[in-house]
Amino acid sequence: MVFQSQLKIIISRDQIAKTVTRLALEINRDYQGKQPLLISVLKGSFVFMADLIRQLDLPLELDFVKVASYGAARESSGKVRVVQGAKTPVKGRDVLVIEDIVDTGITISFLLDYLDKKRPASLKLCALTDKPSRRRVTVPIDYLGFSVPNKFIVGYGLDCDEKFRNLPHICTLED
Ligand code: IMP
Ligand code: MG
Repeated sequence: MVFQSQLKIIISRDQIAKTVTRLALEINRDYQGKQPLLISVLKGSFVFMADLIRQLDLPLELDFVKVASYGAARESSGKVRVVQGAKTPVKGRDVLVIEDIVDTGITISFLLDYLDKKRPASLKLCALTDKPSRRRVTVPIDYLGFSVPNKFIVGYGLDCDEKFRNLPHICTLED
């Protein structure tokens, strides 16, 4: 059981909004004249994706993939598989993957390899948060929102056992 008192705000909704605007400016600038395909990694990145795309002034398309790596536990199993692939053909597209958090990097590097095999015109990563202290696989993050400390975080799409995705802020879950 997790109690409300274990939540501590580390990134407020206002800070998130400012950062989403900053990322959107960078993406708008870099993808001028292109029609990017944004691929949101379910479920954690859906809130971020929804806010981000409304500030993108581009003829973009979007799709979703679902990757399984975490069970109910807070530790990555190290095993990753694509549970639901993108329905939109990736070949020849300018693909921008939208992720909630890069932790060990195992999940996203697996997904980037998987997408790269489908021969997109370009492949970049936009991550809301990064936990660099936990990295086990090198992952280049093209657009990054926040670096976060080595603590479990929830809110703004991120969950603990499917709870707290609806929090407007990003919070740490204290033991
Ligand atoms: P990785 O493979 O270790 O990089 O883990 C990536 C996935 O684990 C993310 O896409 C999240 O779904 C989940 N995850 C990792 N750290 C956290 C966290 O602090 N809070 C919530 N989910 C997390
Ligand atoms: Mg995720």
